[in-house]
Parts: sequence; structure tokens; C-alpha cells
Amino acid sequence: MKSLLPAVAIGLLLAALSPHLFANSEATIQINAAAGTPVSPTLYGIFFEEINRAGDGGLYAEMIQNRSFEDESIVDWKMVGSGNGAISASCALDRAKPLNPQNPTSYRLDIKALPAGGRFGIANHGFKLPNRDDDHQNGIAIVQGDEYQLSFHARVSESFAGTITASLEKPDGTVLASARVDRQSGLAGDWKRFEIPFLPSQSEREAVLVLSADQPGTLWLDMVTLFPKKTFKGHGMRIDIAEKIQAMHPAFVRFPGGCFVEGRTMEEAVHWKKTIGDVASRPGHSNLWGYRSTDGLGYHEYLQFCEDIGAEPLFVINVGMAHKDQVPMGQMQEMVQDALDAIEYANGPADSSWGSLRAKAGHPEPFHLKMMEIGNENGGPLYEERYALFHDAIKARYPDILLVANQWRGIPKSRPLDVVDEHYYDTPGFFMSKATLYDTYGRKGAKIYVGEYAVTHKPSAGKLIAALGEAAYMTGMERNGDHVIMASYAPLLERAGWQRWYPNAIVYDSSRIFGTPSYYVQSMFAANRADFSIPTRVLGPQAEVLVKQRKDETRKETLPTLYAVAGRKTTGELILKLVNTAPESQSCAVTVNGIAAIEPRAEATVLTSASPEDANSFDAPNKVAPRTETVEVAAPSFHHTLPANSVTILRLKIHPAP
Ligand code: AHR
Repeated sequence: MKSLLPAVAIGLLLAALSPHLFANSEATIQINAAAGTPVSPTLYGIFFEEINRAGDGGLYAEMIQNRSFEDESIVDWKMVGSGNGAISASCALDRAKPLNPQNPTSYRLDIKALPAGGRFGIANHGFKLPNRDDDHQNGIAIVQGDEYQLSFHARVSESFAGTITASLEKPDGTVLASARVDRQSGLAGDWKRFEIPFLPSQSEREAVLVLSADQPGTLWLDMVTLFPKKTFKGHGMRIDIAEKIQAMHPAFVRFPGGCFVEGRTMEEAVHWKKTIGDVASRPGHSNLWGYRSTDGLGYHEYLQFCEDIGAEPLFVINVGMAHKDQVPMGQMQEMVQDALDAIEYANGPADSSWGSLRAKAGHPEPFHLKMMEIGNENGGPLYEERYALFHDAIKARYPDILLVANQWRGIPKSRPLDVVDEHYYDTPGFFMSKATLYDTYGRKGAKIYVGEYAVTHKPSAGKLIAALGEAAYMTGMERNGDHVIMASYAPLLERAGWQRWYPNAIVYDSSRIFGTPSYYVQSMFAANRADFSIPTRVLGPQAEVLVKQRKDETRKETLPTLYAVAGRKTTGELILKLVNTAPESQSCAVTVNGIAAIEPRAEATVLTSASPEDANSFDAPNKVAPRTETVEVAAPSFHHTLPANSVTILRLKIHPAP
């Protein structure tokens, strides 16, 4: 300790004079493995928001866009017709005899004249961008050998004596799978649901679903759904996306938003009770990210997904506040009751009012919901009084539920707080400068949840340099993992072409998927979370870094280029996380005190690339991806060199001091 102090003083002095103070000189890292503070087991989770078509057109495996014809425009369904002669036919949205009150609109096909052997109908191109025929990545992607399940509701006029053909086709019209329904199969004046399994004869990335008739008459269609038979654990989620999320090892999932929960108005806010039960009876709602949510991915499905990936659910409930309006205080009782009922739905006995609906949906056992966030990015006096209502009602009935409050221009003051949720979107330098933020937080108040954070500032966003900044910040979270009990990068998902926020951790289209460098940092930290963080002293170089970049403001700070946090697993491994933000390699002299020995072979997982500007893409999905290697460590004191612009996680097997 004594011998280190002069080095610190000289270092600080020189840092003021020159960037890259100790560049290329060896840094020292001193670890005291005999001490340690517990790290929250829920530290690393994910934030799932319905944004950028994260759910509809993303994780939720539905392949049909605007399946229930409730969207504001009908651009996703195109008319198709063919035949040797003139066709006289039209289509219109119709509310005359709805499938049910929650699903008021159907699509009516009026066919006045159709030549023999001809057809007239409608075609859906999946999640292609509206009015963009050049969007070749978002069509219905089907794989030969896989089975698909089509279902639709139909009714016909008395005059209709023909057949409805459902077919999966290539863009040139080649039929890959088809089936027919007629009066004998139940087609009549009242709504009837048809289910058809499809086994396509070829793979096709831009398949089209066509529903067409072969005779004149009027037919109505509604709730046209197409799912792959194979979904994640059989619960309706797209397998590649679910697996990519699961590979992040999230300890919890915060859902379903974000601003999505708030809505522009209370009309658009999430009301979970409208998102359960038969999907054909869920009204859906337009959301502020520019599309309508079917709510097929509803409260039950979120809880099920959490269970399927082994993560704790953290449900964000609207607190009676939207971006533009609020529920008056006198009418808040229903909102508060919704929160209590959400807990009963998740946890109540199978014969309780709400628990019985969960059981009916196929999950008699409770989901064990332990946490609920009250509002999103809400603050001020309106939040204060509404938070108090939720707090008092929930704590009175469910004292063990952990309540997460928003930290938004302040925190609620009138009630004791379990956890507060802070959000940060900024530059890489900002996050590096916050690597020590939590070292200074007192331990008496509410625990911290960093519910949303990411480098969003261009030109760094989405690149390796962004992930380095976030990783530097995360070393501070883990060092203070007794107080920062949860964190989640944001947002999680983006369907290419549907981006409403940039960047997002996982990007996909109909058949391809990749993770950003930030995705890999999240995965690496979560897969290697320590159970105890142990004191780690770092003496290394510093450099001048851009921290703030706003319209009229830029600010640079002299910051370390080397960040480290060490921790122990209860299994006896030592985990050292190292972030080198410098453009040159960095050699480190590491000393682990308080142990008897280290086994000579250790595992290193390294994320780096030739340039900090490097990013991943569909064409180069693994340009910036971690690699794992074995490294030699000689003794409790050893040397290790970090590549330029890198995140390294060393897993060392240690033998404790006697
Ligand atoms: O993560 C995107 C948005 O950022 C969230 O909806 C909101 O909470 C935040 O402002």
C-alpha cells in the first residue's frame, strides 16, 4: 500500500499533462481475495420493450402482419386475382357482423364476376415494410421440412357455393403448400375457425400467404394467423430470437416497456387485462412506436417466457400516467386494482379469481412474480401521489413484492422505497466517467436498478467503442453489486427496417439475426457474474476522453483507460473483468492476495476487434464477437496483456489461504 501512494500522486500529476500517461508501461492490479461483498444474483437482466417490432414481428412467432384487420390501414394485405377473363371484385374493411366485440373489423371480399378456373383473394407478405416492394428481408420465411400452422376465421354469403383456398406461394406464384375449405368443411353464414397444417415443398424467404375464392359471392375473413409449429419450448416464441436472448443469461426480464407502457395517451397505455385469454378476443392497441400491438404477446406469455428462460419477471405497470394525459386521482382505484389483480394472476391459487384464468391458460402453478415496477420514467407531484396509492395497496396485501419506483427528476419521497430505477443514454466517455459512480452511493437508501442504459450517441452507438464504455461502467455496478441489484441494457430487439430507436442489442429479419458488440458485453458479464466482489486496486494509464457531446456543449475529461473488477464464485473461482479502452495493448501485473495458489491454466474470454469503430451486421454477424482461450498464469502474481480496445474476462481457479 505504502509503495503505491507515490505512484498514484505522480500518476495524477502526469495525467494532467499528457494523455496516455502510462501508455505501454505495465499497469498493476492488486486483488484482495480474502475480503468480499455479496453481488446481487439478479444483477444482470434484460429489458424487453415492444419497440422496433420486438414482439409483433419479432419474438412472438406470428408470421402474418395485421392478422385481425384492426390496423389503421390495410397496406399489409394486397388483392390478388387471376383468370382467363374479366374479374369484377373488391375488398373492404367491414364492421357489420364482427367475430367478437373486441375484434370488430373483418375483411370483406365481394366477388361479382370471376371467370371459370380463376381466383380472387388477398395476400399477406409478412412483416414487409408497408408499401415497400423492395424489402426482401421481411417477408414470410419458410423452411422446407418444417411444419406451419395456419388458422383463420371465415364466413360466407348464402350465394357463395365455392371454395376458399389457402396457399403459401413464392413471389412468382409457385404454390409451396395449399389447402381448401368449403361448405362441407363448415363454411357457412356464421363465423367458423379453420386450422390447416402446412408442409411447404421448398424453402422460401419471401413467401406469401394467399386466401382466395374460386366462385362469385361474398366472404369475410378475420384473425388469419400463421405460426411455425416449432416455437421456443412450444410457447409461441420465435426460436432463434428466444435462444439469442437466453444466451444473454438474464437473471430477470423487465417487460413490456418503457414508453410502450405509458402510451401517448391512457387509451394507448398497456392494460394487462386486455392482453390475456383467447388471442382472437384480445383487442390489441396502437402503440407510440408506430404500429399496432396485437397483444398476442400478452401478460401470460411474458410470464411464461420468463419461466422458459429461467429469469425472474419484473412487470412494469402503468401508474395512471401517459405522455399526454393522466387518470384523475379520483378514478385511480381501478388502476391500483389492476396491479393487485396482476399479482393474483401471476401468483394466486388456481381457484382464485385471477389465478383461475392463469390455470385456464395452461399454467395452474404460480409464476412466482416477486417484483413490480410502478410506472416508467414518471416523476413529479403527479407520480408522487399515484405511487403512494400503489405502494400502500400492494404492500398491504403483498408485503413481499419488491416495488421498483421511477427515478425521474427525483424520486417519490412520501413512502419508503425498495428499489429505484435510473436510466442513462449517453456517450462512451460518459459511461467510462461513471465507472466509479456507485462507489460514492450511501448504502442506507433504496437499492439501485439501472433499468435502461446504452451508448446512444452517434457515431459511437452500436460499435465496439460503445460496448467498451458500457463495460467500463458495468465494472462499477458489479463492484457495488450489493447496492446496484439489477441492471438492463436498452432496448433489446430490432427488426431490420422497423427501427424506431438506435441502437438495439439484437437485430433480425425474417431469417437472420445478429448481436451488437454491446450484446456480447451483456452476455459476457452475465455469464460471469461474481457472487462476491472483492477489493481490486488498479493503477494504470489515463487519457483525455470526450464525455459530453451536445449541441452547444462538448466536455473532455481525463479518465483511466483500464477498468477492472474482481470477484469470487461460491464454487471457488476468481473472476477478473478487465476493460482496456486504449488503442494499444496493455500489459498488467496482477497480484492476488489472500490465497494459497492459483491453478496454472485459466480461461480468458476476450471481445475485441481491429478498430473500436467495428460493428456487426447481417453480412458480418461475428466481426466483433467474444473468443475463449486458455491462458497460463504462473503464480498468485502474474502478467497478462490485454489487447487494444478489449473486454477480457479471466476465470482463475484459486485455492484459498489456509
Ligand atoms: O428504451 C427506449 C425508451 O427510452 C424507453 O421506452 C423509455 O423508457 C426510454 O425513454
